[in-house]
Amino acid sequence: MKALVYNGPHDVSVKTVPDAKIERPTDVLVRITSTNICGSDLHMYDGRTDMESGRVLGHENLGTVIEIGNAVDRVKVGDWVCLPFNVSCGFCKNCERGLTSACLTVNPGTAGGAYGYAGMGPYSGGQAELLRVPYGDFNCLRLPSDAEEKQNDYVMLSDIFPTGYHATELAQLKPGESVVIYGAGPVGLMAAMSASLKGASKIMIVDRLADRLALAEKMGAIAIDDSDGNAVEQVLELTKGEGADKGCECVGYQAHDPSGEEHPNMTMNDLVRAVRPTGILGVVGVFVPEDPKGPDKLSKKGVMAFDFGLFWNKGQTIGSGQANVKLYNRHLRDLIHLGKAKPSIIVSHELPLAKAPAAYKHFDARDKGWTKIVLKPAA
Ligand SMILES: NC(=O)c1ccc[n+]([C@@H]2O[C@H](COP(=O)([O-])OP(=O)(O)OC[C@H]3O[C@@H](n4cnc5c(N)ncnc54)[C@H](O)[C@@H]3O)[C@@H](O)[C@H]2O)c1
Ligand SMILES: [Zn+2]
Ligand SMILES: [Zn+2]
Repeated sequence: MKALVYNGPHDVSVKTVPDAKIERPTDVLVRITSTNICGSDLHMYDGRTDMESGRVLGHENLGTVIEIGNAVDRVKVGDWVCLPFNVSCGFCKNCERGLTSACLTVNPGTAGGAYGYAGMGPYSGGQAELLRVPYGDFNCLRLPSDAEEKQNDYVMLSDIFPTGYHATELAQLKPGESVVIYGAGPVGLMAAMSASLKGASKIMIVDRLADRLALAEKMGAIAIDDSDGNAVEQVLELTKGEGADKGCECVGYQAHDPSGEEHPNMTMNDLVRAVRPTGILGVVGVFVPEDPKGPDKLSKKGVMAFDFGLFWNKGQTIGSGQANVKLYNRHLRDLIHLGKAKPSIIVSHELPLAKAPAAYKHFDARDKGWTKIVLKPAA
């Protein structure tokens, strides 16, 4: 089969690799029709992880079932399914509680597995013609009759829509509250959409990329361009000096200032300032235990200078971590089916798999208009 292979930093290519196949009786084999490039893929693309060369990338996957293992009960050949980026078993202590991002059995020695991702187990990615889905009955979200037609919406259920929603859940966002979101990338935009679905009164979103901020405005958010002036001050002005009720971090450890210089602690410290006393921060942007290519001594060891004194003084709370996609994907799917949510609004490019290497380059450079790329391996 054809697949997008990671060769090393800033080097991916489409190659012929052995076909994905059923390996265990609980597996499902999916022919991929839509698979996205994610901001998380860029951490690997930028050489900021220990991803092994030769592996197939892609954790935002949707397609049709073409084969099932002998022990698969519920999923049938021909079903349209969307796969959470988390690979999880369904029966461990964490999965039983819905905490599938910390599954204890699929990646022994650590918590949590994913397709095509550094440190997340041996699972091959779905930027390919075929994908092997372990524990198929548990991991496949079956899609309704409009699956094919709305696949650019449903494919967002694999990661960024539930992840954006997770940011608002970690922040315990309630109807009528205000929220400030750092990062207007795909994840931040999905957090803005989720905040709007939850009935937030004021949604403020910080970035410096005009095209992404314009999309956020389309969703009813207030765009804050931090290349125009201090974002924290703009949030305080918009909230009578109090700060937002809640905050979402949707940038992660490669946070930088508008000139491009990296400061891994920038968004976290800004959030402490921009959120009111007793407010809650939901952090879904990725931070890592070590970052050998980080910009300073602390970040190389996965440590940051966090304004804990001010945070403590304000009595704030932080929730963090990967999204438990299965906790939310069913309900978010139904909002798409009923026309109440349209996450495909952020899709800027639909491309065949062969164009993936060029797409990585543009997305990584945050080139104007390259907001979210959906690859179509079956096209
Ligand atoms: N927790 C999870 O389960 C999960 C899932 C998916 C993605 N992620 C992570 O979420 C983060 C965002 O993903 P994405 O796909 O939107 O990526 P992205 O890189 O496309 O978007 C990040 C955005 O943040 C902006 N930004 C950079 N520094 C900033 C700063 N200091 N202030 C404000 N904005 C700033 C950039 O301009 C960009 O628009 C990444 O770290 C990604 O790995 C986490
Ligand atoms: Zn992703
Ligand atoms: Zn588990």
